[in-house]
Amino acid sequence: MAREQLSVLIPEDRLQARIRELGAKIRADYGDEPLTVIGVLKGSFIFMADIVRAIGGDVRCEFLGVSSYHGGTRTTGVVRITDDLRNPIEGQHCLVVEDIIDTGLTMDYLLKILAVRGPKSLRTCSLLDKPAHREVDITCDYVGFSIPDEFVVGYGLDLGERYRNLPYIAVYSP
Ligand code: IMP
Repeated sequence: MAREQLSVLIPEDRLQARIRELGAKIRADYGDEPLTVIGVLKGSFIFMADIVRAIGGDVRCEFLGVSSYHGGTRTTGVVRITDDLRNPIEGQHCLVVEDIIDTGLTMDYLLKILAVRGPKSLRTCSLLDKPAHREVDITCDYVGFSIPDEFVVGYGLDLGERYRNLPYIAVYSP
C-alpha cells in the first residue's frame, strides 16, 4: 500500500473527542425524542457507528446507499441511489449522516427525496465539510471539522474503495 502518499490531517484521538461532543450536542437538541439516523453509504459507515453511540438514547439506524463517484477524486455530479431506506420515515425526527460535504450536490439531492416522505423533522450531520467546491447552498446542522481543499481518505472515506479502514483522516497526494 502506498502509505507515503498519505499525511495525517485529523488523528484518531481528535476525531473521537469531536464525535463525543457532537453526539452530546445532538442528544441535547432532541431531548428524549426518538431519532432516526440515516447513514449515507458507503462513506459514513464508520462515522455512523461512532456517532449513534455518542448520541445515545432512542435511536433507529437506517442506511441509504448512494454513488456519485466512479472511482476517481472528482464528483460526477450525478447522484444515484444504490440502496433505498428499508422503512418509512414519515412522522419521525430524521438526521442524515454523511462522511463529507464537498460540492453539496449529494446532500441537496438526498434532502429533496427524503423531505417528500413526510419526516417530522430533517437535519444533517457531516463529519467533514470541504466548503471550497460548494456548488449548492447547503447548510449542515452538525459539522465535525471544516477542512481545506484537499482530497482526504480514511475513517470510511475512500479512493477507489481503498483506505476506508484507516482510523484517522489523511490527505491523499497523488
Ligand atoms: P458532494 O456531493 O460533492 O458533496 O460529495 C459528497 C460525496 O463525495 C461524499 O459522500 C464522498 O463520498 C465524496 N467525497 C467528496 N470529497 C471527498 C474526499 O475528499 N475524499 C473522499 N470522498 C470524497
